[in-house]
Amino acid sequence: MSKLLTWIDDRFPLSTLWKEHASEYYAPKNFNFWYYFGSLAALVLVLQIVTGIFLTMNYKPDATKAFESVEYIMRDVDWGWLIRYMHSTGASMFFVVVYLHMFRGLLYGSFRKPRELLWIFGCLIYLCLMAEAFFGYLLPWGQMSYWGAQVIVNLFSSIPVIGDGLAVWIRGDYTISDVTLNRFFAFHVIALPLVLLGLVVAHIMALHEVGSNNPDGIEIKKFKDPATGHPLDGIPFHPYYTVKDLVGVVVFLAVFSIIVFFLPEMGGYFLEANNFIPANPLQTPEHIAPVWYFTPYYAMLRAVPSAMGTQVWGVIVMGISVLIFFALPWLDRGKVKSIRYRGRTYKIWLAVFVVCFLVLGYLGVVPITVWGQFPESWPILGGADKATVIARFLTIGYFLFFLLMPWYTARDKTLPEPQRVTWK
Ligand code: HEM
Repeated sequence: MSKLLTWIDDRFPLSTLWKEHASEYYAPKNFNFWYYFGSLAALVLVLQIVTGIFLTMNYKPDATKAFESVEYIMRDVDWGWLIRYMHSTGASMFFVVVYLHMFRGLLYGSFRKPRELLWIFGCLIYLCLMAEAFFGYLLPWGQMSYWGAQVIVNLFSSIPVIGDGLAVWIRGDYTISDVTLNRFFAFHVIALPLVLLGLVVAHIMALHEVGSNNPDGIEIKKFKDPATGHPLDGIPFHPYYTVKDLVGVVVFLAVFSIIVFFLPEMGGYFLEANNFIPANPLQTPEHIAPVWYFTPYYAMLRAVPSAMGTQVWGVIVMGISVLIFFALPWLDRGKVKSIRYRGRTYKIWLAVFVVCFLVLGYLGVVPITVWGQFPESWPILGGADKATVIARFLTIGYFLFFLLMPWYTARDKTLPEPQRVTWK
């Protein structure tokens, strides 16, 4: 074995890479629960690619055959149902894991200097993941696939001057059609997965360049062992964190299996009822809602009134609500990074943000009539849907978290940070 390794090392830096990124990569010793989700995101990425390859072996990207081919996979292909449910569950779990992973960034200020580029790669991954999920959703060619794509692509037509042309260019046709299905298939199975993989590699390279942040939000590189040069508060990634991450993997796979085997539709949240009906361009479903992971943004889109017959303002607000994450490293002026040492103001604003995001997510799933209307006799609000009015306030709350950040983080009464990481 050691001869083989020397033979390889003479020709490829295998041992060097292993040392640099695992056995001699020093990570802070105080990682907690929130640090499971990076490796879990990588696990789900691999699961999606592997199950995706097997689905592609029997799926047909043809408007007359796509729906049937998915049913064929579910009923006739050996283990096809398992592969398909793993892929559909994987899509939702990808977003669960990534949302928790991003939230950790907000808790511990992981986006702050020197990790700005690491954060930006993360934001690009998030955009790419949304596009990947959107393209993939058209493939089963069910009613929701078809009409969801119709609604989203139509949003582009609201852009002045170029909008209509742009929408036709995206679809390759005047409506969502076989041409659209073919190109979405190409994007979903090859173009975006390649970009996603490339971005994840860049993400990890940036992480290993600067080193991980940690729940105390302090830099472990400040105190090094003079003899070895290793950070005093660091431990080698392998074996310590490979073992810790393995615990996360086991728990995650247990939850994942329970969903795949017992709740694959997750009450219509992971697989929507309307998508078990083949796409029918002549019949619009009564209630069109995107999958749960898009609904906070969808609720914001609906909350913005269409002025002068154009929805473009809603589209702009929705676009900025996603892009604004890129600006976080420059919006936060706090003296400390971690929530452990932040003052009350940051904690309150973070809570406002979370509540707005979750309630908007709920409102994006349900029809706007869900809470009824304000009485006609009321001034200004009379006759308006309550859900729409509340969604407007929540959208404002969501944006204030970001826009007021330079102000409230600078004034936050923070606690002194410890010199060394705290660890029990
Ligand atoms: C496919 C999706 C992704 C994968 C596979 C991935 C992978 C990882 C891994 C393995 C780590 C180190 C372990 C950890 O800290 O949990 C990490 C750290 C990090 N990721 Fe991601 N990530 C993904 C998406 C994102 C997104 C969407 C963002 C933000 C928008 C993000 C921001 C960060 C940050 C800031 C860190 C450093 C955290 C710290 O040191 O405290 N990542 N990522």
